[in-house]
Amino acid sequence: MNEAVKLGFAGFSTPRDGVLVVFCDDDLKFGPATRKALGGAVNLIARAAKAENFKGKRASALELAMPQGLDVTRLIVVGTGKASELKERDFITLGGTALGKVPSAARSATIFAEFSSSAAKPDQTADLALGARLRGYRFDRYKTKLKEGETKPEAKAVTIAVADAAAARKAYASRAAIGEGVLIARDLVNEPANVLYPEEFARRAAMLRKQRVAVEILDVKAMKKLGMNALLGVGQGSRRDSRMVVMRWNGGKKNEAPVAIIGKGVCFDTGGISIKPAAGMEDMKGDMAGAACVVGLMHALAARNARVNAIGVIGCVENMPDGNAQRPGDIVKSMSGQTIEIINTDAEGRLVLADALWYTAKRFKPKFMIDLATLTGAIIVALGHEHAGLFSNDDELSKQLTEAGLETGELVWRMPLAKEYDKAIDSKFADVKNTGGSRWAGAITAAQFLQRFVADQTPWAHLDIAGAGFDSRQTEINKSWGSGWGVRLLDRMIADHYES
Ligand code: BES
Ligand code: MN
Ligand code: ZN
Repeated sequence: MNEAVKLGFAGFSTPRDGVLVVFCDDDLKFGPATRKALGGAVNLIARAAKAENFKGKRASALELAMPQGLDVTRLIVVGTGKASELKERDFITLGGTALGKVPSAARSATIFAEFSSSAAKPDQTADLALGARLRGYRFDRYKTKLKEGETKPEAKAVTIAVADAAAARKAYASRAAIGEGVLIARDLVNEPANVLYPEEFARRAAMLRKQRVAVEILDVKAMKKLGMNALLGVGQGSRRDSRMVVMRWNGGKKNEAPVAIIGKGVCFDTGGISIKPAAGMEDMKGDMAGAACVVGLMHALAARNARVNAIGVIGCVENMPDGNAQRPGDIVKSMSGQTIEIINTDAEGRLVLADALWYTAKRFKPKFMIDLATLTGAIIVALGHEHAGLFSNDDELSKQLTEAGLETGELVWRMPLAKEYDKAIDSKFADVKNTGGSRWAGAITAAQFLQRFVADQTPWAHLDIAGAGFDSRQTEINKSWGSGWGVRLLDRMIADHYES
């Protein structure tokens, strides 16, 4: 993991060097501890604000180099807008914004966790810290050269100043676990497919054993025995063998049914024989973002000792064109017994999930299962990168996910499932076909396909994260490509409703 930030918490006191970041509202008002620390510099800020037309709007900033009366090298005032309007999910964003304003060459920075209306609460302070940490992540392990004038970026010491440092540190403990989970997921998504193929993915997942997560790896032989021909058909054209990984965290009551999270782990998706166009195909190294989220989440749950029994299942394959690749027209028998006619080999994610979902419901009888998958381009057409598509057979589960989305900022938007869409995937030759055959409602027909592999009416939700998993998610808390999307959402949903 490439971390650019070393975080610490301390009481309020005026820093002697480095960069100082403070918050003000849209009346340019500071909190009392901030005002005290700034001393005479408050007037300087007022004059600079006027000159630069700085109004304290959310995420805007005013910067002063070598401010007179202070020992710091730079003072950065970040606007919060109306402090009374700050919602829970805004604090993590503000932490990202604050770190983002610190020049990359700075070795140390102090962020004052105080708002005009009130001292930051421990949870808010911890969210600021998490936001800064996520913002600091970069994926540069394959860069061997520096641009002219560039210095090798070193980790910077970031101190969060707060009234009660001990309380903030305590609140941060669980965020540290979640933050690690997000960064693990990002690392997996960013890693190229020549490095991260199914077997290697399984090895990385197995590192969760260090966190006391039980990890089982199913190889091709084991999956054949279980009848997972839908998953295996996708991988059969690859030089790399497929794997399924089952992760178990038992933090809850003995014998209590687990929650189950399932991820699409297509390490590279060429489309197979129905090959994709060349432009942008490199993005398909991220077609395992769902599986990456599952690994990150399992890490988060274990590292923060969540009082829940949780199962993670990921199907890892590589979808390649080859003499041995699956053909359009092929018919495979899934683990469920249902036969699938392959119309388009590029609709491979649903084939992987068909067996993973069936296996999970039958083996673990979970309270519910949620799958995450970069499943369809159609969901990006519908929702862009700002919401993941949510499909579910359960209103309660949908509500819990929607609420956790609003709390964390990892937003989901519910889309329909309805039997009217089923005729689009009825097959002439088999029980079901793997695409609807037209472009219409592509994300829905994909979800409709998955639903046929949800055994025993298990409460189930499908998150189509084709838009959320990577790319264009350059936000205040992520400047890398892989987003690690879903780790915070699912951790929160579990914390809110499923911990004993
Ligand atoms: N992995 C892709 C979906 C995708 C596209 C994810 C862009 C992220 C960004 C998926 O396997 C796929 O190819 N889906 C096809 C389905 C079609 C063949 C029915 C699609 O969306 O075009
Ligand atoms: Mn595909
Ligand atoms: Zn795919």
